[in-house]
Amino acid sequence: MFRNKKGSKLTISHIHITGCCFLPDLTWLGNRMLYRTYSPKLFLCIEDFEYKVFVPTITSKIHTIRFFLSGNCYNFFCNQSIRDRQGSLKREEDGMKTQRILSGMRPTGRLHLGHYTGALENWVERQNETLADGSRAYETYFLVADYHSLTTSLDTSPLDQNSIEMVTDWLAAGIDPEKSPVFRQSRIKEHTELFLIFSMLITASRLERNPTLKDQIRDLNMDAITYGHLGYPVLQAADILLYKGNTVPVGEDQIPHVEITREIARRFNNQYQHPGTGSVFEEPEPKITRFSRLVGLDGTAKMSKSLGNTILLGDTEEEITAKMRKAVTDTEKLRKNDPGRPEVCAVFSYHKRFTRSQDIDEIEKECRSGALGCVDCKKRCVDSIIRELAPLHEKRAFYADKPGLVRQILEDGEQRARERAQATMREVREAMRLG
Ligand code: TRP
Repeated sequence: MFRNKKGSKLTISHIHITGCCFLPDLTWLGNRMLYRTYSPKLFLCIEDFEYKVFVPTITSKIHTIRFFLSGNCYNFFCNQSIRDRQGSLKREEDGMKTQRILSGMRPTGRLHLGHYTGALENWVERQNETLADGSRAYETYFLVADYHSLTTSLDTSPLDQNSIEMVTDWLAAGIDPEKSPVFRQSRIKEHTELFLIFSMLITASRLERNPTLKDQIRDLNMDAITYGHLGYPVLQAADILLYKGNTVPVGEDQIPHVEITREIARRFNNQYQHPGTGSVFEEPEPKITRFSRLVGLDGTAKMSKSLGNTILLGDTEEEITAKMRKAVTDTEKLRKNDPGRPEVCAVFSYHKRFTRSQDIDEIEKECRSGALGCVDCKKRCVDSIIRELAPLHEKRAFYADKPGLVRQILEDGEQRARERAQATMREVREAMRLG
């Protein structure tokens, strides 16, 4: 009845389990036959549980879980998703809510300082944040939103390379794939499945009122949009809720999408209740980063690839210096010793973010008095940026040197993300009484 050799089948039925902290999560092992139990007594029914041996990859190690059954102790190799959740499982045991972050970016290729200050830096901080007991404050998932790219360009030829370049920058900035699964949306079929279900829970007119969409139509001069583009926030809701994300660090322009996600979660919970757990989804909270909008080198618009006003995370010192030379400062400060207005200067906004705080006041004062010219000010700004980016450049070189490693990291992340996504879809289908 019970063999736990690698690769063998286990058949257990109606057994009272005691002393087990991980068991309620065994459903994540990806086997339909393994049921999560909802009674406080942890009654578990396991039938034909196929035990899959987890194959370690370069970024993962085998962990074991242990449980006690009728006085005997059993060890299972722990799969990735349980490992991802170890800190939060412990917290759930202590009756605390799990904080789970899901965020993503469209694969635009190499990232710039705006991505860094607006999102990435915050992702890394949250990933590494710990609680008093040393466990992680958040579970973190980061997604490459390649399907979302199709809303503005149907050309799929740059997607693969752009995804790799972008993830290389994520890793360089400190995303640790051991802690945070990184994965491509299009590799996990459950995104499209949940997207379809969610698309029934929101009206077309609600989506037409999305201000981010209106801005995009205006900026890109579009005279018609596709059905899929209108549904952009619905796909985003599926991204977030598939992983039960309850915290979404994003830039300001994404707030309307998180609001729509909240509405969809609410609507789903009102309509469908899971027979065991009740509400399937939690309404996620957006978290705006402090520097969510970094101005571009032109001093007028947000830093963005399409406007060509960026400093890339991977730019060398020479490249940054050359770009900074062209940066727009206060247009009324024509000569070195003219008094300047830091509040209208792009370079000063970079100082505010990258220069040590004790030096910022001095730069501001000397700019206003005319003691500091733009050339020197820019030089100091390049130094500050380079100081911040140096460790990133070092890590970037490490990954750029190992082709294939980034792909392997993505595949590993996809395997882990898929298990979570499948577990959520099972719950959704159970709540909806669909097959
Ligand atoms: N829409 C986001 C952007 O353009 C990218 C994205 C896709 C996202 N899915 C997400 C962000 C889920 C947060 C959560 O930047």
